[in-house]
Amino acid sequence: MTSKKAIQLEDKYGAHNYHPLPVVLAKGKGVHVWDPEGNKYFDFLSAYSAVNQGHCHPKITQALTDQASKLTLTSRAFYNDVLGEYEQYITDYFGFDKVLPMNTGAEGVETAIKICRKWAYEKKGIPEQEAQIVVCENNFHGRTTTIISFSNDPDAKKNFGPYTPGFVKIAYNDTNALEEALQQPNIAGFLVEPIQGEAGVVVPDDDYIEKAATLCKENDILFIADEIQTGIARTGQLLAVDGNGENAAAVKPDMLILGKALSGGTYPVSAVLADHEIMDVIKPGQHGSTFGGNPLACKVAMAALEVVKEEKLAENAHKLGKLFRQKMQEFVDKHDLFVNVRGRGLLNAVVINDIPDSDTAWRFCVALKDNGLLAKPTHGNIIRFAPPLVMTEKELLECVDIIKKTLKSFSK
Ligand SMILES: Cc1ncc(COP(=O)(O)O)c(C=O)c1O
Repeated sequence: MTSKKAIQLEDKYGAHNYHPLPVVLAKGKGVHVWDPEGNKYFDFLSAYSAVNQGHCHPKITQALTDQASKLTLTSRAFYNDVLGEYEQYITDYFGFDKVLPMNTGAEGVETAIKICRKWAYEKKGIPEQEAQIVVCENNFHGRTTTIISFSNDPDAKKNFGPYTPGFVKIAYNDTNALEEALQQPNIAGFLVEPIQGEAGVVVPDDDYIEKAATLCKENDILFIADEIQTGIARTGQLLAVDGNGENAAAVKPDMLILGKALSGGTYPVSAVLADHEIMDVIKPGQHGSTFGGNPLACKVAMAALEVVKEEKLAENAHKLGKLFRQKMQEFVDKHDLFVNVRGRGLLNAVVINDIPDSDTAWRFCVALKDNGLLAKPTHGNIIRFAPPLVMTEKELLECVDIIKKTLKSFSK
């Protein structure tokens, strides 16, 4: 298979619901990927922060192949001999009483919304059909019909109505707006990304998450953290809510949603974690998924989480993230093309000096690709830089050199 042929096939037979960079990937190892012609690239997207542990991590691949030849799927009609072990492991790991296993991130978010509503009716006494969940402007929580109902991205939303009611939208990083919203009747929860990844790595004030969690507690409202992109070491800590900023205190959400790197990118695995009084509102028959909690996913997730601790990925992301932003800041100071750099840990972005609708960021990413580094624009003129967390300092500096070289040769 050549790159040209692979692109032609996708173009002809696949729905055009993505606009990929013109590169075909055929192999991955650690921080590198290769195209069918053998060209090697640094992966600076990590499948939107799913491949935190690096491509084809041997420990995760081993767990996958061992379990794949034993038992892959039982459905939850029966018990399986791995799910309980995984549930104990993940709840200990993140400090919650219980977990509800799902597959994709969007399913995790849907699950949290359903639990929140049920808790509101059965524990908080909100009249049925009236529960409202507060969300933020420019959020990204997935692609289901309910989730896109509270998106404000026209591409994600237009002509997919009628939309699901029950959501109140407020500005991100605005605790006054949250305080006001929480005074409205029948508010059940606040669903938020500790850093808005898809919106362009928008980092809120250091104390935002802590203040938001406190406001929720004071008003008996569930604080729901969507850490599908920020979680599992990406931002330089196990979770972004573990201290979202140098001086921020750690926060324990009422519900934590994880996905992506929960499997190291080998397999779709997501989860919602909560304590008894919240999770126990779900009874048999009220929620589920054929694949959620299957033994293959459970083994993969345990291996993926072990790798995060064994290889100190949070510490590495913290250290390399600082170095990366420092190096990028030098470019921002010297070159007109970059307006600023922002991020936390190894979830970073640079804003390109052009109107949001321009193709400058896209063309810069194509030029980066030609020099051996893969990154993707998000929201027009912002480029997200999120390499696998197994990167070494030497490799990161090589990548900085690629960005430097590309900047030198690039004209708007
Ligand atoms: C914060 C956040 N929530 C939810 C999702 C949806 O996850 P998935 O694409 O696995 O459904 C994403 C994906 O990018 C995300 O970044």
